[in-house]
Amino acid sequence: MAKKRIGVLTSGGDCPGLNAVIRGVVLAAENRDWEVIGFCEGYEGMLSPVRYRKLNRHHVTGIEKLGGTILGTTNHGRFVSKVRHGEKAVLPDDVIAEARETVNGLGIEELICVGGDGSLTTAMQLIENGFRCVGVPKTIDNDISATATSFGFDSAVACVVDALDRLQTTAHSHKRVMVVEVMGRYAGWIALHSGVAASADIVLIPEIPFEYKKINEVILQRESEGEFSTMIVVAEGAREKDGSYVANQNIVAASTPGEIKLGGIGAQVAREIAFATKKETRYVVLGHLQRGGAPTELDRLLSTRFGVGAVELIAQGKIGYMVSYHSHIVDSVPIADAVQKLKTVQPDNQVLHTAREIGIKFGD
Ligand code: F6P
Repeated sequence: MAKKRIGVLTSGGDCPGLNAVIRGVVLAAENRDWEVIGFCEGYEGMLSPVRYRKLNRHHVTGIEKLGGTILGTTNHGRFVSKVRHGEKAVLPDDVIAEARETVNGLGIEELICVGGDGSLTTAMQLIENGFRCVGVPKTIDNDISATATSFGFDSAVACVVDALDRLQTTAHSHKRVMVVEVMGRYAGWIALHSGVAASADIVLIPEIPFEYKKINEVILQRESEGEFSTMIVVAEGAREKDGSYVANQNIVAASTPGEIKLGGIGAQVAREIAFATKKETRYVVLGHLQRGGAPTELDRLLSTRFGVGAVELIAQGKIGYMVSYHSHIVDSVPIADAVQKLKTVQPDNQVLHTAREIGIKFGD
């Protein structure tokens, strides 16, 4: 009798931990004597020219420590489910039909979709069209609902904390204001957690629109108290009160269609501060450094548990579910509960409370 066959794909922006998920999937599947097919470049690999790899334990040995994804990924293409912030595109019938032909032709019974909000929204649409998918939440932004966290976030925060520690010494030596722009899209998790961990003085996040007047007051107040340097972490989705998101104009001009790419708020904030306070001000955009490199131990462990958990969901027949993480437990929730509503920093968030208690200002 032919062995049971499952598929796995990594979709959307890459992040540290994807390879550890793939390894977890392959090893747990082999434990059950199942075969694994890995589609290349996310969902796109299911379309002509079809791209996939058969994966066994030899292919995944030692990959848990590698950043990126051995299967490749893309956050654009014919499967993109999100067009603009909060909008959803419907997958065309011909794309669904071609994917179905590929999956059936390869004898794949279930598909493990590893991705963020957009990629899981795609998985939902495939499920609605009869595909047997389970999900694994992935994002450095930590913005997926129905899971306390996902892998990639801890590695991104570790990268930002390292950068802030380095920038703090140079800012201090020069008595400068240092503005550091970090990723996170429409959620301020990376900025908030790294700001607390690296003792930033001001953190600007999308959930708390800021006023320049307030930021400048903090800088000048610090100056009057003998604190001549100020560290500011700005989430790329931060915006002025009554203002709008700042899009990365260089990317917008050259971009393929899809979600707008945020970026540029760090430069704006630095310019406004320099004009108003006359303080020497510099800015740094950390960009894709936050997505590259090896996963932290925490992310390796979580990714491995998520990979194994996804195989267990299939074994239990929990189609349409994704693995999730709450209070140190890997559990599962319907994918439908996780998509279409971003998890953002709420006013009663405990880390936000901690930040305010230790004197971090938010420009509000
Ligand atoms: O969602 C992950 C993320 O890194 C965001 O933080 C960022 O806004 C976006 O992806 C960048 O996308 P790209 O890699 O297409 O520039």
